[in-house]
Amino acid sequence: MTDLRITNLRCEYLVAPLGIDERAPRLSWQLESDRRGARQIAYRVRVASAPALLERGTGDLWDSGRLESAQTTHVVYAGRALRSREVCHWSVEVWTASVPSVLSVPSLWSMGLLEACDWHSRWIAADSEIIRRDPAAVASTLTEPGTPGFFRRAFDVPGPVKRATVYASARGLFELRLNGQRVGDDLFAPEWTDYDKRIQYRAYDVTAMLAMGRNALGAILGDGWWSGYVGWQETRGRYGSLENSLLVQLEVELASGTTLTVGTDAAWQCATGPILSSDFMMGEVYDARRERAGWDGPDFVDQAWLPACEVAPPTVPLVAQCSDPVRITEELEPVAQRKIRSGVFIYDLGQNISGWVRLRVADLPAGTRLTLRHGERLNPDATLYTENLRRAQAADTYLCRGGGEEVWMPHFTFHGFQFVELSVEPTVGSTAQPPAGACNAIRDKLMHGIAGVTGCVIGSVTPPAGHFACSHSGVNRLWLNGVWSQRDNFLSVPTDCPQRDERLGWMGDAQVFLRTATCNRDVAAFFTKWMIDVEDAQTTDGVFPDTAPRLREGENFVGLGNLGGSAGWADAGVIVPYTLWRVYGDRRIVERHWDAMVKWVDWIDRHNPSGLRLNQLGNNYGDWLCIPSDTSFGTHSPMKNLLATAYWADDAAKLARLARVLGRDAEAQRFSAMFEKIRAAFQQEWLRPDGQLAVETQTAYLLALAFHLLPEEVRARAAARLVENIRALDWHLSTGFIGISHLNPILTLTGHADVAYRLLLRDDYPSWLYPVKHGATTIWERWNGWTKEDGFFNPQMNSFNHYSLGSVGEWLFRHVAGIELDPDVGGFQRFVLQPFPGAGLSWANATYQTMHGEIASAWKHRGNKFTWKIRVPPNTTARVCLPSEPGTPVSTDGLAVIDRIGNFAICEAPAGCYELQSTLRVSSAKRVKTPVARTRAGKKKPRGK
Ligand code: BGC
Repeated sequence: MTDLRITNLRCEYLVAPLGIDERAPRLSWQLESDRRGARQIAYRVRVASAPALLERGTGDLWDSGRLESAQTTHVVYAGRALRSREVCHWSVEVWTASVPSVLSVPSLWSMGLLEACDWHSRWIAADSEIIRRDPAAVASTLTEPGTPGFFRRAFDVPGPVKRATVYASARGLFELRLNGQRVGDDLFAPEWTDYDKRIQYRAYDVTAMLAMGRNALGAILGDGWWSGYVGWQETRGRYGSLENSLLVQLEVELASGTTLTVGTDAAWQCATGPILSSDFMMGEVYDARRERAGWDGPDFVDQAWLPACEVAPPTVPLVAQCSDPVRITEELEPVAQRKIRSGVFIYDLGQNISGWVRLRVADLPAGTRLTLRHGERLNPDATLYTENLRRAQAADTYLCRGGGEEVWMPHFTFHGFQFVELSVEPTVGSTAQPPAGACNAIRDKLMHGIAGVTGCVIGSVTPPAGHFACSHSGVNRLWLNGVWSQRDNFLSVPTDCPQRDERLGWMGDAQVFLRTATCNRDVAAFFTKWMIDVEDAQTTDGVFPDTAPRLREGENFVGLGNLGGSAGWADAGVIVPYTLWRVYGDRRIVERHWDAMVKWVDWIDRHNPSGLRLNQLGNNYGDWLCIPSDTSFGTHSPMKNLLATAYWADDAAKLARLARVLGRDAEAQRFSAMFEKIRAAFQQEWLRPDGQLAVETQTAYLLALAFHLLPEEVRARAAARLVENIRALDWHLSTGFIGISHLNPILTLTGHADVAYRLLLRDDYPSWLYPVKHGATTIWERWNGWTKEDGFFNPQMNSFNHYSLGSVGEWLFRHVAGIELDPDVGGFQRFVLQPFPGAGLSWANATYQTMHGEIASAWKHRGNKFTWKIRVPPNTTARVCLPSEPGTPVSTDGLAVIDRIGNFAICEAPAGCYELQSTLRVSSAKRVKTPVARTRAGKKKPRGK
């Protein structure tokens, strides 16, 4: 008997993915065992073309044979070349020292359409005549969303079906249907890419949805990123066209051995439908009276429909979507509702979300108009606050079918909101206009027909990874707010915000939050895909963009000029691969983007031979939204120069390290030398002999310390100056997006954990807990998005759902709970457990799902007693640093203490669960009472812009 289990078999980070186009996919698995020291000593992967073969132990596609190795992640398939459509069934056999081998349950992946010639279908678009013939329909223009096309095609299946797969893509968004049912539950497929470089397709197994005899495929085609509003642009059609088009290819393997292919072509029919318009920013208008029952089923008579038009295929490649799809991830019922006036209610979901409302109504007359407006906050008079949405109308309209129950949600739009205002109006023009009083009575009566208002949360379904909790409820909410902002903004790509007319893949935001994001969720596949968007957006010179996917720039582009090359933003092109290597042990992402990274860093070097990054700074956002903030673009200042130089130095250091990982020794030396050159120039320009920087901001010190730009002997003095800066602001932070992710980690690592805790636990402005104290359920874009004294900040740039300032989540995991990467080894097969308990928290618990299994760390600090429970997953080892007073006894549950460094007793722990205890004085911790005293009345407070 063995207690070993093999779980979580994944291919390219995904569980049983269908239709991938990675020809050498990487496989991974996890071990579960309660046995201390459980470790894999060998494995054997078998990949078979049929389940029966695998059952017999035959890997006809690949049999790795027994390999003496502890590797359980990124095992590269090395069997026979894989072909389009191939289904690969696989399992892994694992040997440990103490038990006979264990075999996993089988998993699978399937290959997509690898060659362009695998596609036999044609791209189709709706005939514009369907709009002209329909008086209610609107043609899309550069400023107005048009009426989406509905498509269908009936076909016969002549015999029993063995397997059926449908592949689909669109320029636009598709919702696919088969025999009256939705195919899959993905939203906004095939999602966002740089459409000038590649377009994704998706594959679905539809075997169970087909029947012998007559069948029908249906599709609705929406605008999305392809032709709708994107960002703050005044016009739509960012990729050069307002026409959406569709590609569908259904492949049915019949039991008889023949294959039937049903693909889009001019034999498909098209028509308008109940969706009158639908745009991400503007919302959807849906007239349920226009629904045609059974339009997507086999028996529908589509005589009034017109043939679809075949259109030219894209000139860019079609690629499989290899990341977690967007779906509805949770549903929320309102926590409160309030009548604003007759026929108008505001519902509070209790949580700021991305998504929409699912409406349920009963027995309302046909044509009753329900309008849903969405907002993140309420005005002081309890009406909906929408000013900060800028030009995003974020309003959905539903016109009732009439009678009975109706359930509806929109299709090709989403909103960022906590509050939804629902107003009801009787059928327009149905009766002579009644007097005002009667109107109100009618509205109030109609309101009784509202049977349900449900918030549907949408986002990319990245699997949960970490959970954090501690003794301070405000901190727990802060952590949760970061998780929510991540869920709301990780929507196909990492966006800045989900509510206003922006929602772009801003690179600075993504990179400062990335490490926190990895603590909350498994974002390996998500960022692997986004890095492709980032590289697609790189200029031939090597300039990485500020946002990705890139928006085509042109005459209708209204914006910041060239969105590229800004320090702290464009550098995400290096930071993302580096971080994925550190956290997931992924070498391939580094290999694939190596040339792009080198090109970027060399481009900076070419333009800045002195070692200071003073030239070609792009929009130069600086420490965006710091206090006091400077939000002017393209301006220069010593602080911005320092920031740009520091990021360049760090890029060079990261490349030197990655070059060593890849065995590129000459490049490792070249980038080390580049780092040294920049470091020397940095010191020459900004460092005074006493450790003081010529530019004295918190972020200047943080970058200098975090990126190792100072001589070793002045680090302590620089850290002291940082603390002095914080003290001078009456113990407040003042960093913007860039500095904030380094603030508490650097304070902790330079011996000032007490200051980090002190900042964490403040709840007066500006602080992390100030929004929490005032009811925030997501992270705000700015420290002063709303203040008690001034109310809402200028609505031109005031989102309540931007994750960047929530990057403190990383510190909660790394230094409060103490789950930290090994300094030398990526991927958590070896890691460090080292909590820094501090004032105001009497306990903290975290669990973290790594590629190797779940790490746990739970400590309690009562009186002088510190107790700590930890879990080290099978096949990993941890360096355990137990906080303890030097000279006092420690209890380590059988682990040998091998060293002592300052206040930590050091042990090496093989896999297993342990309970450790020590004596730990409640040090300076307790002296820092929390929450700290509010700023005294009359005293000038630090203020943001
Ligand atoms: C976005 C940010 C972004 C910034 C660039 C803003 O409009 O919302 O999050 O990083 O522009 O400075």
